[in-house]
Amino acid sequence: MSNITRRSFLQRGTAAAAALTIVPNVVLGKAHGHIAPTDKLNIAGIGIGGMGNANLKNMEKTENIVALCDIDWRYSKPVFDRHPQAKKYWDYRKMFDEMGSSIDAVMVATADHTHAIITADAMTLGKHVYTQKPLTHSIYEARLLTKLAEAHPEVVTQMGNQGSSDEGTDLVTEWIWNGEIGEVTRVDCATNRPIWPQGLNTPEKVDKVPKTMNWDLFIGPAKMRPFNMTYHPWNWRGWWDFGTGALGDMACHILHQPFQALKLTYPTRVQASSTMLLQDCAPTAEHVRLIYPARENMPKIAMPEVEIHWYDGGLLPDRPVGFPDGEDMMGMGGGITIFHGTKDTLVCGCYGQKPRLMSGRVPNAPKAVRRVKDAMRGGHEQDWIAQIKAGSSRVPCKSDFRIAGPFTEMVDMGVLAVRLQTLNKELEWDGQNMKFTNIGPNEEIRILKKDDFKVVDGDPKFNKIYTDPINAQAFAAEMIKHNYREGWKLVDMPR
Ligand SMILES: NC(=O)c1ccc[n+]([C@@H]2O[C@H](COP(=O)([O-])OP(=O)(O)OC[C@H]3O[C@@H](n4cnc5c(N)ncnc54)[C@H](O)[C@@H]3O)[C@@H](O)[C@H]2O)c1
Repeated sequence: MSNITRRSFLQRGTAAAAALTIVPNVVLGKAHGHIAPTDKLNIAGIGIGGMGNANLKNMEKTENIVALCDIDWRYSKPVFDRHPQAKKYWDYRKMFDEMGSSIDAVMVATADHTHAIITADAMTLGKHVYTQKPLTHSIYEARLLTKLAEAHPEVVTQMGNQGSSDEGTDLVTEWIWNGEIGEVTRVDCATNRPIWPQGLNTPEKVDKVPKTMNWDLFIGPAKMRPFNMTYHPWNWRGWWDFGTGALGDMACHILHQPFQALKLTYPTRVQASSTMLLQDCAPTAEHVRLIYPARENMPKIAMPEVEIHWYDGGLLPDRPVGFPDGEDMMGMGGGITIFHGTKDTLVCGCYGQKPRLMSGRVPNAPKAVRRVKDAMRGGHEQDWIAQIKAGSSRVPCKSDFRIAGPFTEMVDMGVLAVRLQTLNKELEWDGQNMKFTNIGPNEEIRILKKDDFKVVDGDPKFNKIYTDPINAQAFAAEMIKHNYREGWKLVDMPR
């Protein structure tokens, strides 16, 4: 057992983990490039009741599942039952303590707010990681995982946005790089989500925590709140403390194509509007505009400033010229991306699927990016496994954290723009330093805590209850870098 796992992860708390560095290969034995293609990886699953179950099915065909961790043992029962040989855990820190040395790789599919801490701890222990999208809940967390991945390229990383491995995304990228639609200065993206209720007041009823679940571990680094059935499973995505609304849920599948094909970096200006914005729950519909500065030109195409528009909750961009009458814009997997070029318009569906030009022309661009087979049917997970086993000949996964981290910042920025919309201005962003430059030190924001609209004796009674004024800089800073609950701490940012 390594020194790290001998010293208790739980006893030390994650605070002490901050001081640790990646464990060298010699300590971990077969990890990091010492796994022959014929060897099976020992994989641990964390957050296995929902999408994690699907991810594990795509891994267990070829690899060993040695440990399973979930805070809800009723919801996770089918996975536990399918893997009676795997050791069961409530707390991933105990799992790392006890089994750290026998785990090669980790799959993380918990609620969004716990992705970063679990993933950073796994990377710190030298484990290869497959983490669901959005990679993180905050911009700082995304920057941290990017830097950890840069500092430790021997750890193979993949975010779970499977469309990044799909050939549709490859074609979109190649067509744009080959100049098939000319220069792109505007992209419209939309999803039909949320398909779950949002725009809700905070539940006031306190439900009994089922014996089969651990609410404290679900909350993890977030602020403690009383349990209510509405949060878990699955519906957490609409609650700001745990999820990222429709944006976080779908933008990783729909904004990825512009992020990759247009080689986006950090936005410089952002603004958003939405239906009623509450303190706790994401709105039912949002529009976000992100401006990206000009990037370095490519051999066949210039990369001028571009504005990216995001719509959800039923809002849609204008139908592009040439989009067939009668065709549902949400008909391609519940999402659409429209690249407006100077020569043509390129449209693809969610996950980058079914790309086509509105002129009807079919481009024949040279292959410029690597292909992954059957991306949407397990190929994305299997490519991560293949790269782990490829040792010195490995290539970056399609959603390696060095790409997925900066991309997740784009998605998290959309959430920030929505939550700061009542400042009533276009916000200016200094990406390098992760701060807004045009929020003054004395600016304040009041946030709607509760919409107490009632009909009394047939009369509408309006009653909106707001927080006291909050310093806007401090509010933004907390969303950019969360203050974790006591007992939970992220590893330090690598220099
Ligand atoms: N790539 C995709 O197409 C896709 C599809 C659905 C969900 N997702 C992503 O997968 C993640 C999970 O979403 P879901 O829909 O499966 O949610 P879910 O609530 O159905 O499942 C989450 C699981 O994680 C467990 N869990 C929560 N916190 C935990 C913790 N701290 N430690 C261990 N287990 C914990 C829950 O008990 C549950 O079993 C999200 O990030 C979501 O965005 C991706």
